[in-house]
Order: sequence, then structure tokens, then C-alpha cells
Amino acid sequence: MRRISISIACLVLLTGFAGTGLAQAAGGGQQAAATSQQKAAATPAEYVGQETCATCHEDVVKNFAGNPHSRLALEHAGKGVTCESCHGPGSAHVEGGGDVTKIRRFASMSPQEIDNTCLGCHAGTHPNFERSPHGKAGVTCLSCHSVHAARTDVNLLKASQPQLCFQCHTDVKPSFSMPFHHPVNEGAVSCSDCHDVHGTFQANNLKLTADQNAICTKCHMETRGPFVYEHAAVKAEGCVGCHSPHGSQNARMLNMPSINTLCNQCHSRVANGTVHSMGAGSDELAPCTSCHTYIHGSNINQAFLR
Ligand code: HEC
Ligand code: HEC
Ligand code: HEC
Ligand code: HEC
Ligand code: HEC
Ligand code: HEC
Ligand code: HEC
Ligand code: HEC
Ligand code: HEC
Ligand code: HEC
Repeated sequence: MRRISISIACLVLLTGFAGTGLAQAAGGGQQAAATSQQKAAATPAEYVGQETCATCHEDVVKNFAGNPHSRLALEHAGKGVTCESCHGPGSAHVEGGGDVTKIRRFASMSPQEIDNTCLGCHAGTHPNFERSPHGKAGVTCLSCHSVHAARTDVNLLKASQPQLCFQCHTDVKPSFSMPFHHPVNEGAVSCSDCHDVHGTFQANNLKLTADQNAICTKCHMETRGPFVYEHAAVKAEGCVGCHSPHGSQNARMLNMPSINTLCNQCHSRVANGTVHSMGAGSDELAPCTSCHTYIHGSNINQAFLR
């Protein structure tokens, strides 16, 4: 509910606007109001209401009734987002008989202007977009979203995941076809389970969680702990210290083909230790995890045997 009321507050703010390039509503109410007054003097366009738009754009208006911008806002707060909340006041456009230079058109806006228009209402939920890798690279809200021609039932996306992402991230696509992979193409896991494409304070757009491993442990709860005997590697290196998150040639999506090599990165002396004297070198040992079964931590045994 709080999110809605913030959005509606923004709507009221935007309704006070009369400019073409939408100001940065997120940048502070007073500043925005001043800009609005200056622009109002230069551009005498006024709000005419959605019914007027409907006289010429009948289909667009009719389809918009089912749009989340109209529907959700109506359900929650009794006031929907209307055409002019995004396209700006339309009187000049109407008086000009549909003069396209007198209405805000997204096709002719810079990435910054597009983002600012959307963030005017959505900055509350996506405050980090401009400093995210996507924002910095000039990928805009409309690279992934479409307001009038969305292809998904929710979130107004241009394509569903993962296809949406693979359009640009061809480099990561092969990982999800490796012999061992997260079932993303199969639809059981989605990119946005781990990433927030709108930006976070983590590297790689990873979702921000209190404990970095929580990205993984929300689904793999048995690895979460806390355990009486923690494996320091899990906390220190994180899950990706041993696993490749997208996919891998190795079983259990491990980083390395040999479990023993993986372990011996940190436990090199183990091969010759007394309890492990059954072989001359670690290569001749059975996989470490055939005995150290509870490798993520144990409540019973210090060496994770049980
Ligand atoms: C008197 C008829 C008329 C009215 C009323 C009208 N328009 Fe238009 N509008 C047009 C015409 C004609 C065009 C140019 C042809 C086209 O692209 O559909 C146009 C184009 C547009 C475009 C640009 C389309 C593009 O291809 O980039 C937008 C956006 C738009 N109108 C929004 C609105 C909004 C919002 C309202 C209500 C505030 C409105 N119009 C009211 C006739 C009208
Ligand atoms: C939430 C913001 C938003 C609202 C509200 C909105 N539009 Fe749009 N409009 C856009 C965007 C963004 C585009 C660019 C194409 C797209 O994303 O679908 C667009 C494109 C258009 C176009 C150009 C034709 C096209 O599809 O590319 C017209 C005409 C138009 N809008 C009219 C309207 C009318 C009429 C309303 C009210 C019923 C309205 N818009 C409400 C954001 C909005
Ligand atoms: C005038 C305020 C306003 C503007 C401007 C605006 N939105 Fe929204 N948007 C809303 C409201 C209100 C909702 C529905 C309530 C909610 O869930 O937050 C919404 C919902 C959404 C949703 C969620 C849809 C769903 O299925 O839940 C997406 C995605 C979205 N907007 C994208 C955009 C994009 C992209 C732009 C810029 C082209 C934009 N919005 C501009 C107010 C706005
Ligand atoms: C790289 C693609 C991409 C870009 C760029 C992008 N989005 Fe999204 N957006 C998504 C995906 C995927 C979802 C659904 C999964 C999720 O919530 O993360 C989504 C969900 C949303 C939602 C609904 C759920 C929520 O978190 O509130 C809103 C609103 C939204 N986006 C607004 C925006 C706005 C505003 C911008 C630009 C400032 C933007 N998006 C840029 C891909 C994108
Ligand atoms: C329109 C093209 C485009 C789309 C669609 C797109 N991205 Fe991106 N993405 C980029 C660009 C450009 C960058 C910044 C440059 C880079 O790091 O590759 C980026 C960066 C990223 C990063 C950060 C990479 C890093 O090194 O920090 C992640 C993670 C990411 N995108 C995930 C996604 C996901 C998930 C989706 C789908 C929901 C998606 N992207 C959709 C173009 C896109
Ligand atoms: C199970 C969680 C998870 C899923 C699902 C996931 N990622 Fe990632 N992704 C990560 C992690 C963790 C990293 C950081 C890699 C590291 O630290 O070694 C990453 C890194 C990235 C990067 C930047 C580094 C690189 O490999 O180029 C991109 C781009 C990316 N992911 C895109 C995607 C896309 C696109 C999808 C969906 C098709 C996706 N990811 C699904 C967890 C995930
Ligand atoms: C949205 C839920 C989800 C998230 C988040 C998630 N996973 Fe997974 N993970 C799965 C599913 C589903 C499978 C496939 C299970 C199967 O095939 O039986 C899987 C499989 C695995 C496997 C292989 C298991 C096996 O038995 O071979 C490993 C290892 C793994 N994930 C590690 C991670 C790591 C590391 C992260 C965080 C970067 C992570 N997962 C995040 C759902 C998730
Ligand atoms: C020190 C290396 C290491 C770290 C760190 C690590 N794992 Fe593992 N993980 C393994 C090994 C080795 C296996 C394979 C065990 C086997 O084959 O019996 C495994 C197996 C798994 C499996 C398959 C099911 C199972 O329990 O055997 C999942 C799921 C998994 N890990 C998730 C995670 C998650 C989530 C994290 C972070 C919280 C994590 N792992 C951290 C080494 C590690
Ligand atoms: C990134 C480094 C790292 C990796 C990789 C790693 N460990 Fe560890 N492990 C540690 C650290 C640090 C400790 C705690 C300090 C210590 O006792 O040596 C530890 C503790 C242990 C202990 C308990 C020792 C004790 O007496 O308390 C066992 C058993 C163990 N690891 C087995 C393994 C196995 C098996 C693997 C491979 C699946 C593995 N470790 C991979 C760093 C690592
Ligand atoms: C045949 C079963 C078995 C295999 C295989 C095995 N271990 Fe052990 N490991 C043990 C037992 C038993 C202990 C002693 C536990 C105790 O003291 O309670 C132990 C203790 C340890 C310890 C703690 C004491 C020490 O020596 O530092 C570490 C670390 C360890 N193992 C790592 C490994 C690694 C790494 C591998 C694979 C290269 C491995 N183990 C393979 C059974 C095994």
C-alpha cells in the first residue's frame, strides 16, 4: 500500500508539470515545481483528460483499461495513471490536430529522459537504476519493458525471461546448456531469482541480501545453517567459491572437475595426514565428500562426517 501511495503522490506531482522533457521528479519536489513553472510559461499546453485522447486514439485508450497502470492503480487507490501522466499535457497536440511535435513521444527521447519519466513514479522501488550497469550502459526501461505492447502478463516485459536477457547476453547463454546447470531454460529458475536488473549495491547486479549466500540458501535451505560446526569456506568464499552459479561441466555444478583438487586448494596437507594415510596422494583417495558428507556444515561432527 505504501508503494501505491508514493506512486500516486508522484502522479499528482507530474500532473503539475507542463514541460516536454520530463523533469527529474525523483530529484526533489521543490526543484521540480520550479522547473514546472518555468516551463509552463514557455509551453502553454494543458491537461485535457483521457476522454479527449480517446476521440482519436480509440484503440490505445480501450486497450489501456487492462494495463497495470490503469488497473492496479484503480483497484488500490481509486485513481489510475492516465495518458498524460506519461505523455505530458496534450492540449497543444490536440489543437494541432494531432501534431506529433507537441506531445511527448518516447521514440524521440534520450535514454536519460525515458528513465527519468518512469522513475518519476518508480524511483521508490528502483532507486539504483541510474548507477546500475544497465543504467550506465544506456539500457533504458524500454529496452526491457513496453507500456502498450508488452508480451507478458505481469511486469510489462517485451519478452519473457530468459529470452529477454539472452537477446543481449549471448555470452552467458551457453552455460545454461551445460551438462549441469540451473534449470533456467526449463522455467524452474529465472535470472531475476538471483539478479536485480534494476541495480543493487552488489557486483554483477546480484540481489542484495543480509548474508550474501542467502541468494542461494533461500532455495537450498539445507545448506543455510547456522551449524554447530561451520565450514569456514562456505562463509568466507561464499557458495560461488566452489560452485559455478549458471552451469558447469562438472556434477553438482562444481568449479573443478575433481572434488579432491577443489578441496586441496585449501587443504593441501591432507593427503599425507594420519587419518588419510590410506593413499600416497590425494588422487588415490576416494572423493573427500565420500566421507565428509556434510560439506556445508554439520551439527554433529567437527569434520563434517555426519
Ligand atoms: C484530434 C485527434 C487527436 C487527439 C484528440 C489526440 N491525438 Fe494523439 N495523435 C493524433 C494524430 C493524428 C497523431 C499522428 C498519427 C499517429 O501516429 O497516430 C497522433 C500522435 C500521437 C502520439 C505519437 C505517436 C507516435 O507514433 O509517436 C502520441 C504519443 C499521442 N498522439 C498521444 C496522445 C494523447 C496522450 C492524447 C490525449 C492527451 C492525444 N494523443 C490526443 C491525433 C490526436
Ligand atoms: C506509463 C506510461 C504511459 C502511459 C500512462 C501511456 N503511455 Fe502511451 N506510450 C508510452 C511508452 C513508453 C510508449 C512507447 C511504446 C511502448 O512502450 O509501448 C508509448 C507510445 C504511445 C503511442 C505511440 C504508438 C505506439 O504504440 O508506439 C501512442 C499513440 C500512445 N502511447 C498513446 C497513449 C494514450 C492514448 C494513452 C492513454 C490511454 C497512453 N499512451 C498512456 C507510455 C505511456
Ligand atoms: C504517473 C506515475 C507512473 C509513471 C510515470 C510510470 N508508472 Fe509504471 N506504474 C505506476 C503505477 C501506479 C503502477 C501500478 C501500481 C504498482 O504496482 O505500483 C505501475 C506499474 C508498473 C509496472 C508493473 C506492472 C505489473 O504487472 O505489475 C511496470 C513494469 C511499470 N509500471 C513500468 C513503467 C515504465 C517502463 C514507465 C515509463 C515508460 C512507467 N512505468 C511510468 C505508475 C507510473
Ligand atoms: C534489463 C531489463 C530491465 C530493465 C532495463 C528494466 N527492467 Fe523493470 N523489470 C525487468 C524484469 C525482468 C522484471 C521482473 C522481475 C523483477 O521484478 O526483477 C521487472 C520488473 C519491474 C517492475 C515490477 C516489479 C517491481 O520490482 O516493482 C517495475 C515497476 C519495473 N520493472 C520498472 C522499471 C523501470 C522504471 C525501469 C527503468 C528505470 C526498468 N524497470 C528497467 C527488467 C528490466
Ligand atoms: C538491451 C540489452 C540488454 C538486455 C535486454 C539485458 N541486458 Fe543485462 N546488460 C546489458 C548491458 C549493455 C550491460 C552492461 C555491460 C556489461 O556488463 O555487459 C548489462 C549488464 C548486466 C549485468 C551485470 C554484469 C556485470 O558484469 O556487472 C547483469 C547481471 C545483467 N546485465 C543481467 C541481465 C538480465 C538478468 C537480463 C534479463 C532480465 C538482462 N540483463 C537484459 C544489456 C542488456
Ligand atoms: C542461481 C543464481 C543465478 C541465476 C539463476 C542467474 N545468475 Fe547470473 N550470476 C549469478 C552469480 C552468483 C554471478 C556472479 C558470478 C561470480 O561471482 O562468479 C552471476 C553473474 C552474471 C553476469 C556477469 C558475469 C558473467 O558471467 O558474464 C551476467 C551477465 C549474468 N550473471 C547474467 C545472467 C542471466 C542473463 C541469467 C538468466 C539467463 C542469469 N544470470 C541467471 C547468479 C545467477
Ligand atoms: C529460485 C531457487 C534457486 C536459487 C535462488 C538457487 N538455486 Fe540452485 N537449484 C535450484 C533448482 C530448482 C535446482 C535443480 C534441482 C534438481 O535438478 O534437482 C538447483 C540446482 C543446484 C545445484 C546442483 C544440485 C544437484 O543436486 O546437482 C547446485 C550445486 C546449486 N543449485 C547451487 C546453487 C547456488 C550456489 C546458488 C546461488 C548462487 C543457487 N543454487 C541458487 C534452485 C535454486
Ligand atoms: C567448500 C566448497 C563448497 C562450498 C563453499 C559450497 N559447496 Fe555446495 N557442494 C560442495 C561439494 C563438494 C558438493 C558435492 C557433494 C557430493 O557430491 O556429495 C556440493 C553439493 C551441493 C549441492 C547438491 C546437494 C548436496 O547437498 O549434495 C547443493 C544444492 C549445494 N552444494 C549448494 C551450495 C550452496 C547453496 C552453497 C552456499 C551456501 C554451497 N553449496 C557452498 C562444495 C561446496
Ligand atoms: C576456500 C578454502 C577451502 C576449500 C576450497 C575447502 N575448505 Fe575445508 N576448510 C577451510 C577452512 C578455512 C577451514 C577451517 C580451518 C581449518 O580447520 O583448517 C576448513 C575446515 C574443514 C574441515 C574441518 C577441519 C576441522 O578439523 O575442523 C574439513 C573436514 C574440511 N574443511 C574439508 C573440506 C573438504 C572435503 C573440501 C572439499 C569439498 C574443503 N574442505 C574445501 C577452507 C576450505
Ligand atoms: C575414507 C574417508 C575419508 C576420506 C576419503 C577423506 N577423509 Fe578427511 N577425514 C576423515 C576422517 C575419519 C577424519 C578424522 C575426523 C575426526 O578426527 O573426527 C578426517 C579429517 C579431516 C580433516 C581434519 C583433520 C586434518 O587432518 O586436518 C580435514 C581438513 C580433512 N579430513 C580433509 C579431507 C580432504 C580435503 C579429503 C580429500 C582430499 C579427505 N579429507 C578425504 C576421513 C576421510
